[in-house]
Amino acid sequence: MPILDVHNLSKIYEGKVSTQALNHIRFSVEKGEFVGIMGPSGSGKTTLLNTIATIDQPTSGQILINGRDPNLLSRKEKALFRRHELGFVFQHFNLLDTLSVEENIVLPLTLAGVRVTEMESRLQEVASMLDIEHLLQKRTYEISGGQMQRTAIARAMIHRPALILADEPTGNLDSKASGEVMNMLTEVNQEEGATVLMVTHDAVAASFCNRVIFIKDGRFYSEMYRGSSRGAFFQSIIDMLSLLGGTSHDLSAIRL
Ligand SMILES: Nc1ncnc2c1ncn2[C@@H]1O[C@H](COP(=O)(O)OP(=O)(O)OP(=O)(O)O)[C@@H](O)[C@H]1O
Ligand SMILES: [Mg+2]
Repeated sequence: MPILDVHNLSKIYEGKVSTQALNHIRFSVEKGEFVGIMGPSGSGKTTLLNTIATIDQPTSGQILINGRDPNLLSRKEKALFRRHELGFVFQHFNLLDTLSVEENIVLPLTLAGVRVTEMESRLQEVASMLDIEHLLQKRTYEISGGQMQRTAIARAMIHRPALILADEPTGNLDSKASGEVMNMLTEVNQEEGATVLMVTHDAVAASFCNRVIFIKDGRFYSEMYRGSSRGAFFQSIIDMLSLLGGTSHDLSAIRL
């Protein structure tokens, strides 16, 4: 059974002018995959991620996470489901600056009422994996952007969610910090077996994935699997992006 099954998903934003942000998208993600989502600006990537994240409701179609449809749950059950099954990494880090790095990371466990001893051993594990052990007592405004994003990844994975969702996790980072963050996400994927779904504009970041799904105008456009070489995958991604078209905004986000 796939971890994530997106079935004929459509999303229409109603308004003076209604927008069909997603148009019968379907795909699935198996346990342990690291999948990238790419597409031109406005193609529906964030809508897709937010709908999977249960932050947004689909207009039609279905999302199954571990075989369960979160949209059939009550509001309270849905909040619990999100907290247990999902981990989030955002472009703007979304760390709480009134808390230390450590307090930010263990937040999902605190909310879930996990025992302190278990919390501490899990904290040591993720902090050492992400190489932020020496930062645990710092405040989030005392660390760099790359360190903030590694903290956000630690927080997203500490409760071993079924699925980690990341929206432009390297969007605010320079290329060195981006590379570090992508190496960390790869390690989390390979060593913890975490399943990751990541939206990105950045072809370098996407080249770390096992598979990249391209969407256009809210529809599935194509997908590519990575072979043995990341360099060759990067080149194929660049070629696909130029085929897809897009704005100069998209191209400026590609770092060579
Ligand atoms: N809350 C909303 N209300 C109305 N329309 C929306 C809303 N959010 C997004 N849209 C529209 O839905 C479409 C898809 O938007 P979305 O944010 O998913 O694109 P995206 O692929 O993430 O773009 P970008 O690469 O610029 O982040 C766009 O046409 C957008 O204007
Ligand atoms: Mg977006």
